[in-house]
Amino acid sequence: MGFLSSTVGKKILMAITGFLLIMFLCVHLLGNSFIYFDLINAYGERLHSMPPLVWAARIGMVILFAVHIFFGITLTLENNAARPQAYKVKKSLRATFAGKTMIWTGLVIAAFLIYHILHFAMKVTNPDISHELDEVGRDDVFRMIVFSFQNVLIAGGYFVALIAVFLHLFHGIQSFVQTFGLNSDASIPVVEKTGKGIAFILFLGYVSIPVAVVLGILKYIG
Ligand code: HEM
Repeated sequence: MGFLSSTVGKKILMAITGFLLIMFLCVHLLGNSFIYFDLINAYGERLHSMPPLVWAARIGMVILFAVHIFFGITLTLENNAARPQAYKVKKSLRATFAGKTMIWTGLVIAAFLIYHILHFAMKVTNPDISHELDEVGRDDVFRMIVFSFQNVLIAGGYFVALIAVFLHLFHGIQSFVQTFGLNSDASIPVVEKTGKGIAFILFLGYVSIPVAVVLGILKYIG
């Protein structure tokens, strides 16, 4: 049987792409956190001054997401088709809510990503607030983010999507570590706790931005 047609092969690809996507989430959160230091416009300008790097990262991301989503759906369909047999397999991870809903949280994230890219990267959903320049002629990313999240529907939508990201990572991080065989009796609790901790830190970091805007901590003064 070929590597890609075997369940193990697909799981390994899911784990590798999942790991790289988490790396992206960490870097993206670091970038977003410049908003707290009034440096997000400078960061945006610096990023866009390197088009080859930006495009290489974008193409890499599209490939990662496509592979992760494709094999995620394929594995779920195969698992469902093999339901009676699946119960015979020894389960090392507890069947938690987050674990059982991976496909659904994954699909919510995919839908969010389409919206998010149209919103902040392509700037087509809110053209009225997305095309302003700041006082030194840079894209006013700060203004775009703050004005966006002042709309409670947008802030609420991001909140729901970030809950989906949190649940997905809550199970996903420990799951990919186990795919690489790090699932001895001694390491399972450590892996589980670390995975949940990383998921929670990423959630807090991301959600802090819409929450700070809604609470008036981050505001646009002009
Ligand atoms: C409060 C939460 C978030 C904020 C404020 C935020 C902000 C932004 C901004 C401003 C951009 C445009 C970057 C640019 O091209 O100048 C962007 C792009 C992007 N974001 Fe987010 N983001 C958030 C959450 C997320 C999450 C949770 C994900 C992944 C699940 C994500 C994935 C992406 C991707 C893939 C891009 C496109 C990068 C590109 O090609 O330009 N973002 N985000």
